[in-house]
Amino acid sequence: MTTENAADTVLSGMRPTGALHLGHYHGALKNWAQLQHRHRCLFFVADWHALTTHYESPESIRQHTIDMVIDWLAAGVDPQRSTLFVQSRVLEHAELFLLLGMGTPLAWLERVPTYKDQIANLTDRDLLTYGFLGYPLLQAADILIYRARWVPVGADQVPHIEMSREIARRFNALYGRDADIEARARLAAARLDDAQRAQLQQLRRAADQDGELDKRDAARALIAASALTRAEKDALRAQLDGGRRTILREPEALLTPESKLPGLDGRKMSKSYGNAIAIREERGSVETKVRRMPTDPARVRRSDPGDPARCPVWQFHLAYSDEATQAWVQRGCTSAGIGCLECKQPVIDAILREQQPMLERAQPYLDQPELVRDILDDGCERARAAARATMAEVRDAMGLRLG
Ligand code: TRP
Ligand code: SF4
Repeated sequence: MTTENAADTVLSGMRPTGALHLGHYHGALKNWAQLQHRHRCLFFVADWHALTTHYESPESIRQHTIDMVIDWLAAGVDPQRSTLFVQSRVLEHAELFLLLGMGTPLAWLERVPTYKDQIANLTDRDLLTYGFLGYPLLQAADILIYRARWVPVGADQVPHIEMSREIARRFNALYGRDADIEARARLAAARLDDAQRAQLQQLRRAADQDGELDKRDAARALIAASALTRAEKDALRAQLDGGRRTILREPEALLTPESKLPGLDGRKMSKSYGNAIAIREERGSVETKVRRMPTDPARVRRSDPGDPARCPVWQFHLAYSDEATQAWVQRGCTSAGIGCLECKQPVIDAILREQQPMLERAQPYLDQPELVRDILDDGCERARAAARATMAEVRDAMGLRLG
């Protein structure tokens, strides 16, 4: 890890679905690879989440995990910068899930939109289980245990992040009470110089009485800039937050921009629609798949003009081609000046060009799968150390520490 800022931790996870496709690359993975240059990043395989829906078919989890992590590495997620790990190997997630479950109202779980949707849609499975109801709570534990600030996810996951925020807030309100805070804050304030102390008092009063949020921020900045010890600063901040300690941080969704790339048939790219190109698709197969792509149905014969707006190939040109090529498509298609195969060739070339560095990055891991295992071993250990530190505080706050 390099220039990380622990206060700005990014965390995200994916269920182990096996090899990923270009939609995953243009949606999530490219984003992850960029984030790791600016933040401390943790990325994990949510294998327990896979079992919430696929508890009857665990056979594929192991291989899917390896294949998916190889694609993360292929896409440029760098194990020197980011911590890559597997959820089920950091048992502390399960402990936090259990403890959070004590005070989480059932209604919060039942009203998550994905809950009723999935039960209605995935009719081939019985999802009326305790595990599936707990899906977003487990996700909250995944996030809160690292005190992550940012969670890059697609729009469908935003309700889960919202619920994680509510759970953190409730946890801090229930268990962050601290009777000594006033006394400790008074001692800390006494160590400020007179001008700072007077200013802080004024800001705090304005924040409390008028609910002025910027006053609270200004007070926080004053505390941060002071020469106090960390414990003294903590006490002043806790006082500012109404005498509650922030044990679990409220995370924020970092909305992943929609991938510009649809599937081969123009619908959303998805393995289950059979319209996907894998990140590590073979060259010949890329060529065949693009050549077979449907085009504007009005172009029955080569001499019929077409309309790119009605053609999924045009969406690929929008994602991959420069302006000159796009102009060539527009002109050639509407005048029947070019054929569809001709039109598709630059798309094929662009996909192969994009995949080349990914294939090269993946090769060592395909040759030596034990390298992937080493990366995950190392990442699991780092994740565990961070998770353990949070759990020590959580246990303590919930009255589970003896002596
Ligand atoms: N539910 C997420 C998905 O289906 C996967 C996930 C599990 C996750 N735990 C997470 C994502 C924590 C972000 C943070 O995509
Ligand atoms: Fe689609 Fe290109 Fe054929 Fe026009 S020429 S219909 S844009 S593939």
